[in-house]
Amino acid sequence: MDKQIMSSDNILEHNRRFIPGGISSVNRSIDPPIAFVKGEGAHLWDTAGKRYVDYHAGFAPYFLGHNFRPVNEAAALALTGGDSLFGAGPSRLEGQLAELVCTHVPAVDKVTLLNTGSEATSLAIRIARAVTGRPHVIVMQGGYNGNHDELACNVFNTLAEIGPRVSPGEYPLRPLGAGTTVTQTRVVHAINYNDLESVRYVCRRYPVAALITEPLLQNIGVVKPEAGYLEGLRDLADEFGFLLIFDEVKTGFRHAIGGYSQISGVRPDLVVYGKAVANGFPLALVGGKAEYMDTIIDPDPSRRPFVAGTYNGHPVAVAAAVETVRYLVAHKNEIYPKVEDMGSKIEAGILDSFSSRGITACVARQGSAFSFYLMARPPRDLHDIIEGHDFAKDVALRRALIQRGVFFVPIATKQCSISAAHTAEDIDFTLEQFDAAVASIWHK
Ligand SMILES: Cc1ncc(COP(=O)(O)O)c(C=O)c1O
Repeated sequence: MDKQIMSSDNILEHNRRFIPGGISSVNRSIDPPIAFVKGEGAHLWDTAGKRYVDYHAGFAPYFLGHNFRPVNEAAALALTGGDSLFGAGPSRLEGQLAELVCTHVPAVDKVTLLNTGSEATSLAIRIARAVTGRPHVIVMQGGYNGNHDELACNVFNTLAEIGPRVSPGEYPLRPLGAGTTVTQTRVVHAINYNDLESVRYVCRRYPVAALITEPLLQNIGVVKPEAGYLEGLRDLADEFGFLLIFDEVKTGFRHAIGGYSQISGVRPDLVVYGKAVANGFPLALVGGKAEYMDTIIDPDPSRRPFVAGTYNGHPVAVAAAVETVRYLVAHKNEIYPKVEDMGSKIEAGILDSFSSRGITACVARQGSAFSFYLMARPPRDLHDIIEGHDFAKDVALRRALIQRGVFFVPIATKQCSISAAHTAEDIDFTLEQFDAAVASIWHK
């Protein structure tokens, strides 16, 4: 198959003969069904050679940009330098990465390495249950914590599915797909983000092992914590004895090396990282307080959560992560202010395109992560979005941007990610195209 001559449609058609739907992750199924063939820095190219300024970043891992050379070289060295998946004994590289993470992430005393965010959130829940001896877990309506049976529920739902806002209270469980047990086991409770009273409500009724949340929701755009919310979660964890788990798979390393927990000053009991930690290579980790992480080696097998994986600590991904973290630490004083500056320019430009035409809209942003909403104020939870946002116009605008060479993934509210590889020219180009796209959709 020659990637130069096959069009996006041809690739999809070919793949559909062998892969259900032609794509191995339902989240990658988009309309228009572009097949990209090259990524470099802040840019993507499709099969026709058209270039896009990319704000999807492969669902956010590419904080340093696509194919970032120092990280790729570190991975290549692991491949050519004799490292292998020995499948026995400790590895030098995993120790290096663990030391870097424990040194630079305040929420992590000890850490263990896995491959995907989903594996890592699953393990964090398992550790919390082993520590507390309790089964119940609180998740956020509008939060995404991975693809596994228990947590793959209640992300984007309609009002018809979950009903109007209840506080205090919880929402009916809505699995993301068939074949899971979450509605039978009834140990998962979905409540709204920014709603402390509902945490209390669930804790009074059930023995809760853990509350897992992205510290700011980044799978329904960008939904930030209200003042005191994360501190309130910490207090409730201490009051009711559950473990507070921050899912920093999207926020970790992107907003700060110590993640959003470092920015907020709220220390979770366990924290999960993925995505940006290895700049696009498959690696995730669970870390946290030593007393909880050390249950992994509890001499009593009945108290010891099981951690295993053929590819845990894979040398290629770990070498990429070591280089990513070292690079971020060495360049943090340039990178984080730079992406903040580009983010604030994007935010101002987008707001200007809407307000100059009298269109009601807002931008929610944390550093390099942003989303626009066609409503007056940034949302505080999913209900604000499903009650106030214009989903059809949102997608139409994204498609108009794609036509103009700016890749905002064409899924309503999806977070956009700026990388350190974006330049002032990329931002200027994006804002010009954004303005033209708004004019074309609203005819103003
Ligand atoms: C916040 C969050 N947690 C967990 C995951 C799952 O990570 P993975 O797709 O690597 O399994 C994701 C993926 O998008 C995520 O955004």
